[in-house]
Amino acid sequence: GPVIHSLSPSELEILPCALLVVSSEGVISSFLKSTDPQQTRDTLASLNFPPGLITIHNLERGQFLIPGFVDTHNHAPQWAQRGLGQGMHILDWLDAITFPNEARFRDPAYARRIYADCVDGFLRQGITTASYYGSVHGEATRILADLCLAKGQRALVGKCNMTRNSPDYYLDASVEDSLQVTRACIAHIRSRDPEGALIRPILTPRFAISCDDAALQGLGDIARGDPLLPMQTHFNEAEQEMQATAELFPQFTSEADLYEHFGLLNERSILAHCCYMSEYEMSRIKALNCGVAHCPISNMTVGGGFMAAPIRDFMRRGIKVGLGTDSGGGFSSSILDAIRQAMIASHAREATSEGRDTGLSVHEVFYLATLGGAQVCSLADKVGNFEVGKEFDAVLVGTQGTERGIMTLVEEEDSLKTVFEKFIMTGDDRNITQVFVRGRVVKGG
Ligand code: GUN
Ligand code: FE
Repeated sequence: GPVIHSLSPSELEILPCALLVVSSEGVISSFLKSTDPQQTRDTLASLNFPPGLITIHNLERGQFLIPGFVDTHNHAPQWAQRGLGQGMHILDWLDAITFPNEARFRDPAYARRIYADCVDGFLRQGITTASYYGSVHGEATRILADLCLAKGQRALVGKCNMTRNSPDYYLDASVEDSLQVTRACIAHIRSRDPEGALIRPILTPRFAISCDDAALQGLGDIARGDPLLPMQTHFNEAEQEMQATAELFPQFTSEADLYEHFGLLNERSILAHCCYMSEYEMSRIKALNCGVAHCPISNMTVGGGFMAAPIRDFMRRGIKVGLGTDSGGGFSSSILDAIRQAMIASHAREATSEGRDTGLSVHEVFYLATLGGAQVCSLADKVGNFEVGKEFDAVLVGTQGTERGIMTLVEEEDSLKTVFEKFIMTGDDRNITQVFVRGRVVKGG
């Protein structure tokens, strides 16, 4: 049936009658890009599969497959506070809304309940890969990782490091404790999934304001000794944050120099926001091959960035970019909402840059939400599109209102490209009828 995926930022492949073969391990073993339905049927017949070993989806009109979405930045313990404190500046919002809420995750029963809803909620949105910040708590973070594994979501999961500048009730006990709990979470996640087939650990210093030099140094030491470990943090998000960082670290003239000094910037680093970037910082993150988690909703609603980040400029320079819902600073856990806001923000940027940073097209924002995100999460060898050898993480989109409250988007004369565009710009989770991770159905059996 119809399959749509990105080959690159500028190449969207739209195949009306493709044949994808997925092994029982969930790996794409062949991909026939036919445009002739009879050829597709003949090829299928010639493959001679033993009956019962495979499920064949003869897609109905209006249905198509796309790669699963990748959310490169979100906060699992903010699930229950989504949308609160809109318009507040970052440090005020953290103090008033976020720290009291995240502190509740000291209670494992509470963590289990909210995190179960959170993982289900993201899977329902077709988010097959998520990079999660946990809270400071080791036990709650392990619960989050276990839930991702049990529910079949691909995830990077990090215990959040915070050794200063927050209230006593929400702080690591000490630098040593912060590092020790981090190491224990890494070991736990790797013991549950030794190959990193679904869940992987990630270092998660909240941002430099929350971490003493010794904590950043200790995390950098862990990173240096572990060439597989990614790192995520908030980077040049808002003026209030950048000013406080500069006051705490007068020895550095940029956040790029700061995080690089502590050994935290490399090709596995995921830098959230990156709203304000000097020419120097652009060149540093490009040279170090760091990825950007673009969070277009929270950038313009919470934190005080209120800023359309320079995404066209990142893409022009070949800097990796993916999309983040940044749920809960971002009010929505829908990546479709983030896709649309990325487009809106890019047009605002086009205006403020006097035409230099041209707005993003539908296929470019779709790329950011799939293959771009996979690159940012260092998972492009496994997911992001349907290349043979990758794993089958996919969303089955339905656009005909025949059952289960699907919203009808199709008109008789619509091409597949038109239906796709309508889904991206107007669809919602009712159109996300089935979700697969590694070939396994994780939503909508
Ligand atoms: N900077 C530090 N922590 C946070 C957070 O939770 N959300 C956002 N948007 N920025 C942050
Ligand atoms: Fe964030």
